[in-house]
Amino acid sequence: MIYVLGSINYDMSLELERIPKKGETLSADGLTVGLGGKGANQAVAIARLGTRSDKGGSPVSLIGHVGKDSIGAELIKRLGELNVNSEFVRQVNRPTGTAVVTVTGKDNRIMVYAGANATISKTDVDEALEHATGADTLLCQLEVPLYVVAYAMRKARSIGMTTILNPAPAKELPDDLYYNSDIIIPNETEAQILTGINPRDFDSQCAAMDAFHERGVRYVVITLGDKGAVVSDGGKMVAHIPPYKVKAVDTTGAGDTFVGALALTYPHIGMYSFMEACGFATRAAAITVSRRGAAESIPTFDEVCALYSNVIKN
Ligand code: RIB
Repeated sequence: MIYVLGSINYDMSLELERIPKKGETLSADGLTVGLGGKGANQAVAIARLGTRSDKGGSPVSLIGHVGKDSIGAELIKRLGELNVNSEFVRQVNRPTGTAVVTVTGKDNRIMVYAGANATISKTDVDEALEHATGADTLLCQLEVPLYVVAYAMRKARSIGMTTILNPAPAKELPDDLYYNSDIIIPNETEAQILTGINPRDFDSQCAAMDAFHERGVRYVVITLGDKGAVVSDGGKMVAHIPPYKVKAVDTTGAGDTFVGALALTYPHIGMYSFMEACGFATRAAAITVSRRGAAESIPTFDEVCALYSNVIKN
């Protein structure tokens, strides 16, 4: 089982020709509303990519909070429809987390109100991980309280679980969060904030990855948007993963798709290579970029596989 500790938001995404100036009112060209939040998006990615029609059951449990309001109830219902186990999602007396997203061209800007996400506690983690074992994985981001994330990763490591950190949005992290992470997956901006190194070319990307290794992280993946990703195991393997080119419509949720896809495949490294896992995650994220919205734009396993058949056919 993969446990995702993270945010659940109601996303309102406005498609705009440009960002309005101060004092200006601008008509939007389109509106997409629905399930979002980095935690929820990553859980949906794992469910969509990891659900096998012959096996049933959900491969992922989300640990999170929504409000005791109709939107909170609606988001829990949608998580269930997308095959995310939401038995550890609680409704609390705070408004459901909300994100306002502006999409201009293929670029997005996101403003988030944490609401119920800010009330997640160590007790939620203890309840959810009560029956977890060393065969399970914990995946965290940083849209819920940092001390709870640090506690969860420490606990997961003590159980022997695989631990994955997507440090988004970036903030200063305690040392133990690094050395309790088997794998860290920042984007370029987050890597720069956390290491002080701008990963603008392969040399600086390697230096940034080394900075994470020095803090005790085993595998580092820096996602580079439409330039692909770089990966390192701190030893023999350092590589650039090329992008899978698509026409970008909305990049919201693309990073979450990549992270979810990697969380799904990483524990099986050995059956296939880390590079192959990153290639799969890159393709999954490319499909997300070609659609509007956050959770709803994430592809299924079959849709990602179809990209491989296209490559072979061509
Ligand atoms: O990573 C994209 C997500 O960030 C959006 O769905 C939004 O809710 C914010 O959490």
